[in-house]
Amino acid sequence: MLLRFPKASQAREDEVTPRPLFLSRRSLLAGGAAAALFPDAAAAALQAPTTVRPRDAKLDEVTPKKSATTYNNFYEFGVAKTDPAEAAGALRTRPWEVVVEGEVAKPTTFGIEDLLNFPLEERIYRLRCVEAWSMVIPWVGFPLAELLKRVEPTGAARYVAFQTLHAPDQMPVLRTGFMEWPYVEGLRLDEAMHPLAILAVGMYGDVLPNQNGAPVRLVMPWKYGFKSIKSIVRIRLTRDQPPTTWNRMQAQEYGFYANVNPDVDHPRWSQATERRVGEFLRRKTLPFNGYAEEVASLYAGMDLKASF
Ligand code: MTE
Repeated sequence: MLLRFPKASQAREDEVTPRPLFLSRRSLLAGGAAAALFPDAAAAALQAPTTVRPRDAKLDEVTPKKSATTYNNFYEFGVAKTDPAEAAGALRTRPWEVVVEGEVAKPTTFGIEDLLNFPLEERIYRLRCVEAWSMVIPWVGFPLAELLKRVEPTGAARYVAFQTLHAPDQMPVLRTGFMEWPYVEGLRLDEAMHPLAILAVGMYGDVLPNQNGAPVRLVMPWKYGFKSIKSIVRIRLTRDQPPTTWNRMQAQEYGFYANVNPDVDHPRWSQATERRVGEFLRRKTLPFNGYAEEVASLYAGMDLKASF
């Protein structure tokens, strides 16, 4: 079966968001929740018409918030899916700064308040984990490109490196020898500049829960979930491809690109199908997680089996 997801430009919001969901989100935001949680400009933006990723309502129901906030990967807080929800309360998300540096004309330190003042919008994205489960999550965020444009990348910038907070006093697993910390990730600059790449500061019309990567995380909907690094404190533009946590751990299993690809199996399991959290039957995994029309051109001419 071939599933087609129309381009955002071809769909109206009320076609792509089931009416009751659309209305309840609006009333939640208009009712003052957003105003209380986000600064004035952001709250106003969230009440204005938003860009919502197109989806087939029947095939792509939004995952219940309870599942998305209790079934997590955030290894700094434990390896079990329930550990982050239980332990991430210890994470202090204020004050918070994100340093943006490297091959840029204007290195800048953004406070979390500065990030909340970017034009926030809601994006409903599929998140496909390398472990072959998936969710559909309404993020609140803004294009990563907007942040990168502010710092003016130099002509030498080719990659973007991201780093998570390193705080052993707040993150219990950092006090053990398990894995190398801090968690790091990377993108090619053109991937980072793609309009689907966002920095999220909220989900389900609310601020980001700690276990989901508060106060700011990356969301790359066409890549396996591990690329979507949480609780970011540093973004560095570089000439060379930066190291990434899972690639450094097991290079044969986790590549730098990590584009969702049903034709390239993980050495220990198939990536052809996935289980949507909360569902019983498995569904087919789509190339680029269903976003091929938007992003496949980024990889024109590349061997996606070699560059997995
Ligand atoms: N970021 C950090 N800092 N630490 C992590 O362990 N796990 C990644 C990614 N970002 C991880 C991380 C993985 S494997 C996945 S699948 C997603 O976060 C999960 O995001 P979620 O818990 O919000 O669904």
